[in-house]
Amino acid sequence: MTDDHRRQTGYGSENQPEPDSHVTSSTPQPEQPDRARRYHVKSFGCQMNVYDSERMGDLLSAQGMEAVSTPDEADVVVLNTCHIREKAAEKLYSDIGRLRQPRADGSRPTIVAAGCVAQAEGAEIAARAPAVDVIVGPLAYHRLPDLLKEAQTGRAIDTDMPAVPKFDALPARRVTQASAFLTVQEGCDKFCTFCVVPYTRGPETSRPAADLIAEAQALVARGVKEITLLGQNVNAYHGGLTLAGLIRELAAIDGLERIRYTTSHPRDMSDDLLAAHAEVEKLMPYLHLPVQSGSSRVLKAMNRAHTRESYLATLAQLRAVRPDIALSGDFIVGFPGETEADFADTLSIVREVQYAAAYSFKYSIRPGTPAASMADQVPEAVKDERLARLQAAITEGSLAFNNSTIGRRCKVLLERPGRKPGQLIGKTPWLQSAVVSIPGAVIGDIVEVEIVGAMPNSVEAVPVNHPARESAAA
Ligand code: SAH
Ligand code: SF4
Ligand code: F3S
Repeated sequence: MTDDHRRQTGYGSENQPEPDSHVTSSTPQPEQPDRARRYHVKSFGCQMNVYDSERMGDLLSAQGMEAVSTPDEADVVVLNTCHIREKAAEKLYSDIGRLRQPRADGSRPTIVAAGCVAQAEGAEIAARAPAVDVIVGPLAYHRLPDLLKEAQTGRAIDTDMPAVPKFDALPARRVTQASAFLTVQEGCDKFCTFCVVPYTRGPETSRPAADLIAEAQALVARGVKEITLLGQNVNAYHGGLTLAGLIRELAAIDGLERIRYTTSHPRDMSDDLLAAHAEVEKLMPYLHLPVQSGSSRVLKAMNRAHTRESYLATLAQLRAVRPDIALSGDFIVGFPGETEADFADTLSIVREVQYAAAYSFKYSIRPGTPAASMADQVPEAVKDERLARLQAAITEGSLAFNNSTIGRRCKVLLERPGRKPGQLIGKTPWLQSAVVSIPGAVIGDIVEVEIVGAMPNSVEAVPVNHPARESAAA
């Protein structure tokens, strides 16, 4: 996952309504009636976790609160946790430890533990971290303002998985970037033996297509040019349309230039979706399709429901209809019972597929999942060593992919300033970070470039059909 995906959520404070005097904290706060209460939301997890952080921010802003970019100035700090690996969960407790220390003026913030750790370990957090004021799961965060009120008289907890979707209870979204996430599907029924997501996010549910089309239209009306459809199993979407059907409807929205989706499961790559990649121009040529292991034996133990061969066959079909598609994946090394021969299969699939990008993780025991109690857990040192070899192969592949794009002309959606003055960084259709200097261009513009240089994690580009190009050539 990239820094973009992990970015913390701190909003500007324009157009805020009057502060809501009803929301006060259970913890000592200095009297400052002349300013709005401030919040900070920190994301620890996947893109959907980031999306949820943004929506919690929308809720708090709608209460008249003001977003701040660091926890130090905040009256309410929301820690939106991830439970996917052990280290991700541990970060919650170290953050709580810091936040509960009284500040210079004697105050401390109201602490909200949200997200997947809150869902999976709500009771444990309550016992282990008395400083936490609110515990709220990923399916209940629409109740955050109510929970903050309840917390005035004692700790408030909501880790229900209600049948009525939270999305209906959320306020209209504020647009902060030209590229927006849109959650279309949540939860997972796949139960891979290593994974907590089916337990933290509940069963697969899809939002109605009509709601999503309306939300996408509203986003585009406010300047969004790219929408990434999100779901834990986004290609299992079935909200009245299939994912391909939804993509086709969204492609008809004028002003929406780019559509992406993530994360997909190999089992749900339907012919319909493959066809959309061939036909829908706005659907970007990039697919994140995690395989997890190159060994069919390990895949079976993981309960992945695909084999090495079926996965490769799906990619071949996709490349037949969309030859320039860039692929990415996720890998786990050191799954229980993984032998050196199994791991060699993982290395060989990385070389065979030529991923544009890939994310690799050491298997992390997640209590309560089937793999946690499997025999033959792989020693930590072996996992470390395999991870290093895998990452070297992935980096080599990313560089080869980026090199193969040198000379291509494409469009880049500018997203943020670069390191040097005048530089901007944006995304190519293949989701590469492209560094480009274009006088007069601003964040949110889509510009025509030519790729001229490649690094493992980014490419260098120059503008085409632009005055700067001619003067550079002169
Ligand atoms: N739904 C997606 C994955 C969501 S979790 C899919 O099926 O592909 C994101 C990634 O975290 C997974 O793809 C996997 O590579 C990794 N992951 C999940 N559980 C893990 C665990 N227990 N240890 C290490 N990595 C894990
Ligand atoms: Fe986890 Fe597997 Fe579901 Fe992905 S498909 S969220 S890895 S259980
Ligand atoms: Fe983490 Fe929950 Fe996402 S466990 S990866 S934040 S779905």
